[in-house]
Amino acid sequence: MRAVWITRAGGPEVLAVRESADPQPGRGEVRIRVHAAGLNFAEVMARQGLYPDAPKPPCVVGYEVAGVVDALGPDVAGLQAGQRVLALVRFGGHADTVCAPAERVLPMPDDLGFVEGAALPVNFLTAYHMLFRVANLRPGARVLVHMAAGGVGQAVLQLCRTVPEVVTFGTASAAKHAVLREEGCTHPIDYRTEDYAARVLDLTGGEGVDLVLDPLGGRDWKRGLRLLRPVGQLIAYGFANLSVGERRSIRRLVGQLSGVPLLTPYGVMDRNQTVSGVNLGHLWGRADLLREELAAVLDLWRAGAVRPRVDGVYPFEQAAAAHRRIGERRNIGKVVLVP
Ligand SMILES: NC(=O)c1ccc[n+]([C@@H]2O[C@H](COP(=O)([O-])OP(=O)(O)OC[C@H]3O[C@@H](n4cnc5c(N)ncnc54)[C@H](OP(=O)(O)O)[C@@H]3O)[C@@H](O)[C@H]2O)c1
Repeated sequence: MRAVWITRAGGPEVLAVRESADPQPGRGEVRIRVHAAGLNFAEVMARQGLYPDAPKPPCVVGYEVAGVVDALGPDVAGLQAGQRVLALVRFGGHADTVCAPAERVLPMPDDLGFVEGAALPVNFLTAYHMLFRVANLRPGARVLVHMAAGGVGQAVLQLCRTVPEVVTFGTASAAKHAVLREEGCTHPIDYRTEDYAARVLDLTGGEGVDLVLDPLGGRDWKRGLRLLRPVGQLIAYGFANLSVGERRSIRRLVGQLSGVPLLTPYGVMDRNQTVSGVNLGHLWGRADLLREELAAVLDLWRAGAVRPRVDGVYPFEQAAAAHRRIGERRNIGKVVLVP
C-alpha cells in the first residue's frame, strides 16, 4: 500500500509517500481501499510536533476515510466486500488501504461522492457533538464560532441553521466573509483587524453570547469566558494558537499556556457558567455514541441540510501543498487527500 508518512517533526517537506505491505484485517475489522481521506488541522499540528495524541514519527496520521470495503476479518457482521463506506480511524487514514473496526465504519449514501464523504466525519461529528450533545442548542441562541471558515466552523454554521433563530458570530479573515454569509453566518467578524470581543459586545448591546465554541485556546479561552451571558457555556475543543508558521515555537507555547484561565467549581457556580471540553479523539471508546452521531449527520446530509464545502483535493504526492494550504490559513472548508 501507499501512504503519506510524517518522517519527522517539521515543515511540510518532512512528508513523504512510501510503500509498504497491505495491512490484514484483524478480528472485527474490515479493510478499506481508500478513495479519499480528510486532512485536518490536527494532522498539520501532528506534523509540526504539536499534537500530543499523534503517534511518534515516522508515522501515518489521518482520522477519516471514504472508500470501498475489500476484505473482512473474522466476526464482522453487517458489512460486505464491495460496499462504499465512511470510516473513522485513529491514525493511518492518509493511506490507500486501511483496516478499521467495523463499529466505526458506516455505509455511505449512494449519491454521496468519496471526496465529499471524506470531508464529513470529523468536521461534522465535532460540530454536531458540540451543538447537540454537549450544548443542547436552543432556538434563538447566540453562538460565537471561531475559525468559522474552516472545516469545523462551516459545519457549525450549517448545523446552527437547523435550529430556528440562532444568531451566529463567526470570526474569519475578511476575504472569507462572503462564504460565511453564504453559510448563514449572521455576523462575520474579521478578527485580524478588529477586536472580536469588543465587536460581539457591541452587537449584543453589551450582553454577550450563550455559547462560545473555542478551538483557539490560551488567552482566547479567557476572552470567551468574559463574553458569556449568564447560563452561558464555553466549549474548549482545540489549541490552534500553538500553531503559527510551519514549525513549533517554544516561546509561543509558553506564552499561550500561561494565558489559559484557571477555573474553580466555585467560580463557575457563582457566574452561572458551564465550561466543557470536547476531544473526539478521546471518545474512541464510545463507538456507540460516535456511530449514533455520525448516522444523524448522514440523515441531515440526506435531507439536504448539510453539505461539506471542499476547499481542494490533493493527490498524495502533493500532500505538502495540502498541509501548506491549511498552515498558511488559505483554506475555506475541507482539504482532502486522494491516493
Ligand atoms: N476537539 C476535537 O475533537 C476537534 C475536532 C476537529 C477539529 N478540532 C480543532 O478545531 C480547529 C479547527 O479545525 P479545522 O480542521 O476546522 O481547521 P481548518 O479547516 O484548517 O481551518 C483553519 C482556519 O481557521 C482560521 N484561523 C483562525 N485562527 C487561527 C489560528 N490561531 N491558527 C490557525 N488558523 C486559524 C484560518 O482562517 P482565517 O484566519 O483566514 O479566518 C484557517 O484557515 C482546530 O483547532 C482543530 O484542532 C478539534
